Amino acid sequence: MKNQRTLFATKLGVIAASVGSAIGLGNIWRFPYEAGQHGGGAFLIIYLAMVTIVGIPLICSEFVIGRASQTNVLGALRKLERRGSRWHWISYLGILSSLMILSFYCVVAGWTLEYGFASINGALSSQAGEQYYSDYFRTFTGESMRPLHWAIVFLTLNYLILRRGVRSGIERMSNLMTPLLFVILVVFCVKSLMMPGAAEGLKFLFVPDFSKITPDVLLGAMGQAFFSLSLGVSTLLTYASYFKRDVPLVKSASIIAGLDTAFAIIAGLIIFPALFSFNMEPAEGPRLVFEVLPYIFSHTAGGQFWAAGFFFLLFLASITSTISMSEISIAFFCEEWHMSREKASLLNYVIALVFGTICALSFGMLSDFTIFGMTVFDLFNNITANYFMPICCIFFSIFAGWMMDKNLLHNQLTNNGKTARRFFPAIVFCLKFVAPTAILAVFVYQLI
Ligand code: TRP
Repeated sequence: MKNQRTLFATKLGVIAASVGSAIGLGNIWRFPYEAGQHGGGAFLIIYLAMVTIVGIPLICSEFVIGRASQTNVLGALRKLERRGSRWHWISYLGILSSLMILSFYCVVAGWTLEYGFASINGALSSQAGEQYYSDYFRTFTGESMRPLHWAIVFLTLNYLILRRGVRSGIERMSNLMTPLLFVILVVFCVKSLMMPGAAEGLKFLFVPDFSKITPDVLLGAMGQAFFSLSLGVSTLLTYASYFKRDVPLVKSASIIAGLDTAFAIIAGLIIFPALFSFNMEPAEGPRLVFEVLPYIFSHTAGGQFWAAGFFFLLFLASITSTISMSEISIAFFCEEWHMSREKASLLNYVIALVFGTICALSFGMLSDFTIFGMTVFDLFNNITANYFMPICCIFFSIFAGWMMDKNLLHNQLTNNGKTARRFFPAIVFCLKFVAPTAILAVFVYQLI
């Protein structure tokens, strides 16, 4: 089995693919609306703390488990756990979560396609007022069939790429697309910062009001950190199983976390100044980016082209993320259920189509169908980020920190003592104590 696996070709490819996984709708769509709902500056501080003391060590833990075992998540835990223990059961929660995330993620990625085409054909470039853009979003998502058709288009593309297993395709696409997205974002950042009243937005994002820190803010920031870094559901574990022996894990983890956070903050620097400049509400929820950005674009010279470029890049950023989350179940189907790559990709596609359809209709036909007071879309979005991912993360950190063979952990993290030796004790300390305690504390605080 092992020698059939293709590995990532280069270290740059490793970074590009992992960063491609991390950067996506999480940074540009989810981060601004979570920050908007949870008080801005206070949220950002907790988010940064989470990324540093919990996020980076956890990326390392997934990397170590994946590369040491060179197989899918279930096989990996089985290979590394002590004889007779049941740690590998947690992998089913990871696989389930990855499929749930894919199901709602494809819907939002579908919106980016709608918005990309609507920008080209002019539907989004009239000099209309802000009401026009919020109506546009509501009408579009409420229509049921149009969002569904875009979600299906997206999933089909995702399937076609995965089926061919074009790892070099993923590598090359990520290399090109990430810098491009960065440039466009920076241009908009400058544009947004020059708007009248932009300072209010900066204040909202950077000046923390500590009285706003509630259990909900902590949970939201933690969930967002996990979501944005693709943690917990074993995306990075699966990718690391394709890493070569000489990839420096700690350095790669830090680069990924750093770039991912930079993209999120830049997205915030676009949204909030513009938002306050137009007197719009920050706590809009999932609609936020799709109402605010088109409005800004439409008031920019050449906005039509900027908007189209922006939404297509966002679409590309999404597909490098969905490829990474699909790879979890595909590697599992191939290696544990002995399916061919084609069949495994098809199964992943069919499951995502069924649940993706329900999520796509959550804003229209199925908007009254709720579980725990949430539509299926909201349920999948919240339950995975706020519960399933943290639970998996606790398991991974304890597994790597306490259960795994110490020498193996050391040799993997430091590449046999060649890199990152200085950081090793700190990372192990975070994995053993800080990460599990922090996650548990947020949970308990939330419950009481
Ligand atoms: N991190 C990606 C984003 O920010 C999404 C993503 C990819 C993801 N793989 C994941 C989220 C696994 C959760 C789990 O858009």
